[in-house]
Amino acid sequence: MSQPSPARVTIAPSLLAADFSRLADEARAVEAAGADWLHLDIMDGHFVPNISFGPGVLRALRPLTKLPFDVHLMIEPVDPYIHAFVEAGADHLSLHPEAGPHLHRSLQLIKSLGKSAGVVLNPATPPDAVEWALDLVDIILVMTVNPGFGGQAFLSSQLPKIAALRRMIDASGRRIALSVDGGIAPGTAGRVIAAGADTLVAGTAVFGRPDYAAAIAALRADAP
Ligand code: DX5
Ligand code: ZN
Repeated sequence: MSQPSPARVTIAPSLLAADFSRLADEARAVEAAGADWLHLDIMDGHFVPNISFGPGVLRALRPLTKLPFDVHLMIEPVDPYIHAFVEAGADHLSLHPEAGPHLHRSLQLIKSLGKSAGVVLNPATPPDAVEWALDLVDIILVMTVNPGFGGQAFLSSQLPKIAALRRMIDASGRRIALSVDGGIAPGTAGRVIAAGADTLVAGTAVFGRPDYAAAIAALRADAP
């Protein structure tokens, strides 16, 4: 009997690596190329040493694509802006435990608005930062670079953490996406999938390539 095929990996291109003068075209292009989610990196120049864009960009793009908006909030404080991002069209809101004093309360707020809630773990943040909030979590996002910039080198030190989170999620019995962000490209994609990830965020490896469909296919093809 043949083995069941492994579940299809979710691909979330990060708009941070797109051409900012043509964001509408770029969003539509990755949708046509087979992306599953659109990853939107929100940076405030305070929580991370870079500034990207805010809810106005989401609002402008929302009518142009059916892709779920996977919003990665790198802002502190974060709670006062959650409503604004939901109103602008966010479907998933992921935040860092370090961005506010009450992670559980922030997740409750996101869930009360009917959206998917995510927790993002920096390279030095351990898995137990999310363990006691799993009942409110839909996505765990493991940073395989320090947040703030695209195009950084993948940190292989995070592979055992991805494996530990895979075990934690499986033991919980809950449906939680295990996503990885930073330096994901053919080569590293296969390694994080082998460790247990099911969702890949990729900026440079999609928008930095000439053919987005080929780039997304290459990420999927890297699955072990
Ligand atoms: C970094 C962001 C990433 C970034 C990834 O803070 O969270 O989403 O866009 O870029 P690449 O894929 O180029 O490492
Ligand atoms: Zn991100």
